[in-house]
Amino acid sequence: MDVAPIFEPLRFRNLTVKNRIVRSNISGRFDNYDGSGTRTRINWELKFARGGVGAIVSSFVPVQLRGRIVPNYAMIDSDRHIPFWRELGRAVHEHDCRFILQLSHGGRQRDVSGIEFPVGLSSTDRPDPTHGFACERMTVAQIQETVSAFAEGARRAREAGLDGVELHGANGYLITQFLSSAINDRRDEYGGPLQNRARFVLEIVRAIRARAGDDFHLQMKISVQEYNDAVALFGAGPSGNTVEESVQVCRWLAEAGVDAFHVSTGSFFPHPRNPAGRDLPVEELAATYDTMISSGEDAFQNYLLLRRLPALARRQWNAAAPAADAIEGANLPDARRVKTAVAVPVICTGGFQTARVIASAIQRGDCDAVSIARPLIANNDLVEIFRRGQDRADRPCTYCNRCLANVIEHPLGCYEESRFPSRDAMISEVMSVFDPAPFA
Ligand SMILES: Cc1cc2nc3c(=O)[nH]c(=O)nc-3n(C[C@H](O)[C@H](O)[C@H](O)COP(=O)(O)O)c2cc1C
Ligand code: SF4
Repeated sequence: MDVAPIFEPLRFRNLTVKNRIVRSNISGRFDNYDGSGTRTRINWELKFARGGVGAIVSSFVPVQLRGRIVPNYAMIDSDRHIPFWRELGRAVHEHDCRFILQLSHGGRQRDVSGIEFPVGLSSTDRPDPTHGFACERMTVAQIQETVSAFAEGARRAREAGLDGVELHGANGYLITQFLSSAINDRRDEYGGPLQNRARFVLEIVRAIRARAGDDFHLQMKISVQEYNDAVALFGAGPSGNTVEESVQVCRWLAEAGVDAFHVSTGSFFPHPRNPAGRDLPVEELAATYDTMISSGEDAFQNYLLLRRLPALARRQWNAAAPAADAIEGANLPDARRVKTAVAVPVICTGGFQTARVIASAIQRGDCDAVSIARPLIANNDLVEIFRRGQDRADRPCTYCNRCLANVIEHPLGCYEESRFPSRDAMISEVMSVFDPAPFA
C-alpha cells in the first residue's frame, strides 16, 4: 500500500501543513464558564499534535456570548482571551502542527443555553427542531453586529499567532441557519433566493478580509447536503440545500477570498450522518440528556422517548444513518463536487481511519486532505500508526458515538469499553486530559 500521498505537504494560499491529516473539530466542556480557556484544553490539543496530525481545527469557539452553545467552551469574543489562545498555539506549534480556530455562532441550535441569554438568535423565529430552543429573528442591526464579531474573532486569532480560522458554516449553526432553504424563512435581503441566503456569510468573509488581512488563512466548513428531513420525529420538513446550491455558495465564497473548504453534511447536529453511526447510544443519552431538559421546549419529550421508547429512538435515528461499511468516506462524492468547482483545496470529514482509503481518496482527487475526529479520539497516534505502515489501528473507532453522548456531562474522550482491557483503563484514559493539572 502506498501511503505517500498522506505524507505530502498540503499547500493552501497562505499556509503549508506538513501532511494531509487534519484533526477535525471536537468540542468538550474543558473551560471556564466565562469563556476563558484552561490548561486542560491545551492538554487535549497536545494529544493530537504529539500524535502527528498536520493541523488541528479547534472546537466550536463562540465569537459572541449569545452564540455560545454550551457554557465552558473557550471563547474569542474579547481581547482578554488572546493570551490563552497564544499559549495554546505556541504549545501546538512545538510539535510542528498548525492550529486553525473555528469561529462559531450557534444561533438557535444550542445544548445548554447558559444564564446570560436563554433565547438565541437566528435567521428565523422558529425554534430548532431537535430540542426546541427558542430564538428571535435577527434584525439587520444584529446581523451587522454579528458580522463584526466574526471579523473581530479572526483579528484576535491572528494576534494570538494562530495559523488561520475556519468559519463554522456547517451542521445547523448560525451560518447554516442563513444558508439553508429549509431553515431560513426571511423575506428581506437575507432570505429567499440562494444569493440572499448567502449574503450573511459573504459579508462575514469580506469583513474578515478587511479586519484580519488578505494573507491570513480562512476556510469554511459547509454541509454540502443538508438531509434536513432525515429524522421523522423532528418533522418531515423540506430536505434543504442541494449539492448544486452548496457548490454555487462555495464558488462565491472562493471568489470572496476563502482559501479552503471543509466538507461536512447535515442541517442539524448531531445528525444521523454526522457524526455517522448505526447504533444510537440510547442508554448513555438517557443518562446525560437530563442536563438539557429545562433548556428546550422539546427536550423533556426527547428525554422520555430515550428512557421509555429507546428502541423507537434508535430505529428512527439508525434508519437515516449510512450503513456501517459506508461511513468511512461517505462525504467524498460531495467533496469531489466542490473540488471540481473551485481552485482551492478541499478537506473532507467523515469516518476516516484507514490509510488505504485516505491515500486513494487523495490520489483520485476527491479531496486534498481528510479531517478526522472520532478515530483520533480513539487513537490519538493514528498518523504515526499509518507512518509505520499499518493500514488501521489495532483497536479502531467503532463509530458508537458514546464520546458524543457523554460529552454534555462528562470529560471528552473515548467511552467504548470494548476498546479497552477494562472499564478502569477506559476511565483512566479519559481522565488523562487533566494531566498536567493547572497548578502542577
Ligand atoms: C464529540 C464531538 C464533538 C464535535 N464538535 C464539533 C465542533 O465543535 N465543530 C464542528 O464543526 N464539528 C464538530 N464535530 C464533528 C467532527 O468535527 C467531524 O466532522 C465529524 O465527527 C465526522 O468526522 P469523524 O467521523 O472523523 O468523527 C464533533 C464531533 C464529535 C464526535
Ligand atoms: S466512543 Fe470511542 S469508539 Fe465510540 S465513536 Fe467515540 S471515539 Fe469512536
